[in-house]
Amino acid sequence: MDRISESLKERGYAHVVPPSDRDVDYAAEVGRLGPLLPQYAGELVRDIKPSSEFDDEQFTPYNTKELRPHTEWYEFPELPPRYVAIWAVHAAEGPGGETTLADGYELVASFSPAEQEALAVNAYEWRTDPGRTPERVDRRAERPVLQHHPDGLVLRFSTMDLQVRDELSQRYVAEGVRFFDQHHVAVKVETNALLIWDNWRMLHSRTAFRDHQRHLRRALVGLSVS
Ligand SMILES: [Fe+2]
Repeated sequence: MDRISESLKERGYAHVVPPSDRDVDYAAEVGRLGPLLPQYAGELVRDIKPSSEFDDEQFTPYNTKELRPHTEWYEFPELPPRYVAIWAVHAAEGPGGETTLADGYELVASFSPAEQEALAVNAYEWRTDPGRTPERVDRRAERPVLQHHPDGLVLRFSTMDLQVRDELSQRYVAEGVRFFDQHHVAVKVETNALLIWDNWRMLHSRTAFRDHQRHLRRALVGLSVS
């Protein structure tokens, strides 16, 4: 856990591949960083796998198509989860299915101090499409892109759900996509491996894949009370 915390601080993410003979209780392990937060159906650990409910035209975690860069939980008014952890029950066989990550703090640094200030003041609407989740999550929140918190800078990003309404928000999304394309790292989370990232800092996405048996589990970690 010390190495994970160090890597989270330094790079914004940590990738852990345990010896293949060890079964790790990842929910318990990542729960040492902070409380696990309830997800859409109230569950603390959520299964992410392709579902026949979704065709491959949609952008949703529940098919095999690529995703667009985003941060997690921007559509909720509360503080977004500090960390997102995913581990693979069954990694995608064959090509694709990588999780991609890029440093949002570097993206923000490409904006002028005055623009960064505006991004922390202007409230924008973040609205989800209910067609993207089995639970038909239909949420909206009015929040700035940046939020200063005693524990760090909180960043929100979405190419699809930030309701762009001025030149700055338009450029934030366009620059974010360009930055992500140029600077992301791609991690294939192999079966039994874990990837955890700082959701206040990192943008994440996913490449397309073919294996319909791909099965990840996801936990959202909130702020530690200590
Ligand atoms: Fe996500």
